[in-house]
Amino acid sequence: MTALAFILALMLSGVAQEVRAGIANTKHNLGSMGVNAASNFSGTTEICVFCHTPHGGDASAAVPLWNRYLDPTGFQTYDQGGSTTLDAQIEPIGSVSIACLSCHDGTQAMDAMINEPGSGADNYAFSSGVWSGQAAAVNGRIGPVTVITNLGKDLTDDHPISVQYAGGGYSESNPQGPGRDKDFNPAETKIVGTRRIWWVNTQVEGSTSDFERTDMKLYTRVGTKGAFAGEPQPYVECASCHDPHVDYNPTFLRIDPSGSAVCLTCHNK
Ligand code: HEC
Ligand code: HEC
Ligand code: HEC
Ligand code: HEC
Repeated sequence: MTALAFILALMLSGVAQEVRAGIANTKHNLGSMGVNAASNFSGTTEICVFCHTPHGGDASAAVPLWNRYLDPTGFQTYDQGGSTTLDAQIEPIGSVSIACLSCHDGTQAMDAMINEPGSGADNYAFSSGVWSGQAAAVNGRIGPVTVITNLGKDLTDDHPISVQYAGGGYSESNPQGPGRDKDFNPAETKIVGTRRIWWVNTQVEGSTSDFERTDMKLYTRVGTKGAFAGEPQPYVECASCHDPHVDYNPTFLRIDPSGSAVCLTCHNK
């Protein structure tokens, strides 16, 4: 089915709204109404609070209104593994990836948050509630090291993150690239407000002139290595491929992975 026919079918069946209702139906609903028995917390029915707070968030985080402590220490990055073909520079784990890893490295309790629901201050401890499922067995962390959702601190066996797109080449002074590595599809770019953003277009929602959540988002960081060190540049991070709120694709992917569409958006193979 084409994307258009799919959208039409949804509109006709009247479920378009539910399809985009999203996160409540996913494993990122960690509250007591959650759908994943492996990790439900009895202390709240709220969903967003495990990641965002309306007040008092960590303003230094690369993610909006962030409600969790970020620990960038101790990671091993992909370039410390065995690859002999990597072109790009890898920065220390940061940006949105460090936010994902505040749960997915398996080191912090998921009910540890800056501002818990209700009135009063709270510092990284939830006052009441218990975890069910695999999280209960490990004091509210993401699960034993044997579950694949617990990536740990060793990221040498995971797709590179905090990695320059296309081997570098895109930067504030050279926004259209081209990338140094020609095995990648070109990135799109524009200025939003005062910042430049880049993304790789998937065609799922058509237009190349705007970033859509079904495009592969690249994250702007000031590079410290390579030809354009000191300039804002695009990096691949966890949320380049995943949108942590979506329920309409498996494993929070920004697009349907059928036919390896996720991989082929960036890799020209
Ligand atoms: C599991 C963690 C998690 C939960 C739960 C969560 N978010 Fe997010 N949210 C994130 C991350 C990470 C980002 C940054 C993603 C990005 O860069 O696109 C984000 C970004 C956002 C943004 C700004 C970017 C965008 O996509 O519009 C909004 C708005 C937002 N979240 C709202 C919510 C609301 C409302 C809820 C609850 C219904 C919620 N989030 C629950 C992790 C979470
Ligand atoms: C507040 C904690 C928390 C944060 C922050 C968080 N996650 Fe998760 N995530 C979970 C839990 C809990 C699960 C379910 C784990 C399980 O059942 O083994 C999960 C599951 C997943 C899954 C597997 C989904 C499936 O259907 O199997 C993916 C993919 C994922 N998260 C990606 C991300 C990404 C990407 C980010 C950052 C943008 C992120 N998560 C941030 C807690 C979190
Ligand atoms: C280049 C794209 C890409 C990046 C970057 C990426 N992922 Fe994924 N991730 C995927 C794809 C594709 C899958 C589905 C794999 C599958 O079906 O087994 C996946 C699966 C997962 C799963 C579920 C694993 C399972 O088998 O249950 C988790 C959890 C996850 N990713 C978390 C993360 C986190 C956290 C980061 C950042 C540290 C990250 N991902 C970065 C593409 C990516
Ligand atoms: C958002 C863009 C993006 C997506 C989507 C993506 N990749 Fe990558 N991938 C990269 C970048 C950038 C690198 C770093 C490569 C380099 O510079 O040599 C990389 C590296 C790799 C490498 C390691 C290359 C090496 O030389 O060590 C493999 C293998 C790989 N990707 C496979 C995949 C697969 C499989 C998928 C789909 C599940 C995928 N990628 C999705 C951007 C992406």
